[in-house]
Amino acid sequence: MTKPQTYFVKTFGCQMNVYDSERMSELLTAEGMRAVDNSDDADLVVLNTCHIREKAAEKVYSDIGRLKASKRPSGVKPMVAVAGCVAQAEGEEIVRRAPAVDVVVGPQAYHRLPEMLAQAAEARAVDTDMPLESKFAVLPRRAKQSGPSAFLTVQEGCDKFCTFCVVPYTRGAEVSRPAEDVIAEARMLVEGGARELTLLGQNVNAFNGSGVGFAQLIREIAAIEGLARLRYTTSHPRDMDDDLIAVHAEVPELMPYLHLPVQSGSSRILKRMNRAHTAESYLATIEKLRAARPDIALSGDFIVGFPGETEADFEDTLSIVRAVGYAQAYSFKYSSRPGTPAAGMDGHLDEEVKSERLARLQALIVEQAFAFNRATVGRRVEVLMERQGKKPGQLIGKSPYLQSVHVMAPGLAIGDLVEVELLSAGPNSLEGALIQKAAA
Ligand code: SAH
Ligand code: SF4
Ligand code: F3S
Repeated sequence: MTKPQTYFVKTFGCQMNVYDSERMSELLTAEGMRAVDNSDDADLVVLNTCHIREKAAEKVYSDIGRLKASKRPSGVKPMVAVAGCVAQAEGEEIVRRAPAVDVVVGPQAYHRLPEMLAQAAEARAVDTDMPLESKFAVLPRRAKQSGPSAFLTVQEGCDKFCTFCVVPYTRGAEVSRPAEDVIAEARMLVEGGARELTLLGQNVNAFNGSGVGFAQLIREIAAIEGLARLRYTTSHPRDMDDDLIAVHAEVPELMPYLHLPVQSGSSRILKRMNRAHTAESYLATIEKLRAARPDIALSGDFIVGFPGETEADFEDTLSIVRAVGYAQAYSFKYSSRPGTPAAGMDGHLDEEVKSERLARLQALIVEQAFAFNRATVGRRVEVLMERQGKKPGQLIGKSPYLQSVHVMAPGLAIGDLVEVELLSAGPNSLEGALIQKAAA
């Protein structure tokens, strides 16, 4: 097999995978390969996979089959590399079920991709180690150009072991990057054009990088000249300490939007999930956050149909959603994952029960998101322009509350931060009118 000239990275799963895909792309570009826009044109396709639910994980096998059956105009079949969390969890299984795959590389080992590709020219290469050396120390420097909004992974892995979740197995133990490395990367991204950074981690608020806690990291990154906005995701309610809550009152660059998953409104189910918080303690945390930052918008994740969930437990979930009033929320049917404690619990529910509960929860969530958007109509907010809209002269940007806002503004460019009056709201986005170009 000859060395691939072109590549395409397809990303599944969470924002940490989006970040990893960017780093892999930079690495492949540094190796002299060229990115293409379509998997059908690429000599090498990297599938950066997600193992969180069964459906996500199963998609990978159909993709491998389709890609391996395709041919490039030259008659050559593409190389296929499976990266990410399915690679980590099912390395051997992938090789068994999809023998045509060329490379299998876990999320902590992808800095070795170039040597693995070279090796794969002879025989398949598999690396799902969690090496002691950090990939961050070996990867090429960040590309000089970034968009107006960039992701930055500051912490990886998870020690929480929620009984339903594969992440502690696919990403390994909680590890924070040294604060000075994170700050240096943040500077590079801002110099490259980012106005907004989102700090990422599976438990980002458990960050502790060489003695610097998460609240302090936020203060230091917010002070970087040229950075307008800062966000972080995903947080565990247990690690939402008073210092971090205080930062929401103190740091204007920190946007008033927080993704704080609760998973269930039933403390009995939360215990079975090993979440280490109750419905009551979660609500108390929300209260403190709102005292610190009254306009904070909240988002969450929910699992319905966890083993043993009764109708009354599910109604507690609806109640907590009503009590919080989310601006946005994501909800999933419980998916039994091999090797997790919940998979072996009693009381697994039928698909129909799960589907019915999911539909009820989602109806409530959609209603709340729409209500949240409507409540902001008439307000003036700053919008960071992120992409071109469908209509000529239209740009789409994000409000501080992470709402998508469509603005007719032929004179503006992507990356502009402008003041906009919100005119009308839909369930997923708003229309706004430009007031003036805010000072940079
Ligand atoms: N670290 C984050 C969650 C990462 S996974 C946190 O602790 O909040 C993203 C979401 O996927 C979870 O919040 C949960 O709602 C959902 N999820 C995880 N495992 C799942 C499973 N086995 N079945 C269904 N949903 C699951
Ligand atoms: Fe999974 Fe729980 Fe860790 Fe989140 S905190 S990644 S849900 S084990
Ligand atoms: Fe999926 Fe792995 Fe992220 S399992 S949600 S891609 S950490």
